[in-house]
Amino acid sequence: MTPPPVHSVTSDASDWVRRFIPLLPPKGDILDLAAGSGRHTQLLLEHGHRVTALDRDTGPLAHFAQDERVTILECDLEDGGAWPLAGRTFAGVVVTNYLWRPGLKDLVANVGPGGLLIYETFAVGNERFGRPRNPAFLLRPGELLEAVAGSLRVLAYEDLVVVDPRPAALQRLCARREF
Ligand SMILES: C[S@@+](CC[C@H](N)C(=O)[O-])C[C@H]1O[C@@H](n2cnc3c(N)ncnc32)[C@H](O)[C@@H]1O
Repeated sequence: MTPPPVHSVTSDASDWVRRFIPLLPPKGDILDLAAGSGRHTQLLLEHGHRVTALDRDTGPLAHFAQDERVTILECDLEDGGAWPLAGRTFAGVVVTNYLWRPGLKDLVANVGPGGLLIYETFAVGNERFGRPRNPAFLLRPGELLEAVAGSLRVLAYEDLVVVDPRPAALQRLCARREF
């Protein structure tokens, strides 16, 4: 049998994502939203998952193009159209360093029964440290909790300033849709 391709992803994965990957349903299809170069796509593959990697610029995901475990979706989430993943569910949704506030509720709906939402991005207060500074890209206090309220059970949540790898104000959430 031909071994699966090995990808080169230089950036390290988020420790928050690493922490909760073991809680994902095994061998599920996971959505990596705004996947960038696919650092979490790669990590998820290494844990036995299939991955749908979505980004408006899929060039940096080209190294996954021959990998049958990866579905690459080129899509602009902010083009004013309907949510492109409406009606679809995944065993997990991973989002890091990206926020499209109008899509948050739709994103939560993409988490299937027993599935996890693993989210980490910048929060209000990050303006002090650097980019992003635009309030449209910064979570308001409690905003991730509000987004999942009534839908998902919160397993972990943090709203904090980190110093490593660089100072930043972040919110992080892991939440599960109960069966
Ligand atoms: C800061 S990068 C984060 C990448 C990845 N999640 C990570 O943490 O390594 C933000 C990503 O969001 C994508 N993005 C920005 N606006 C987008 C949009 N309107 N629709 C889809 N993806 C978008 C960018 O192309 C970029 O890959």
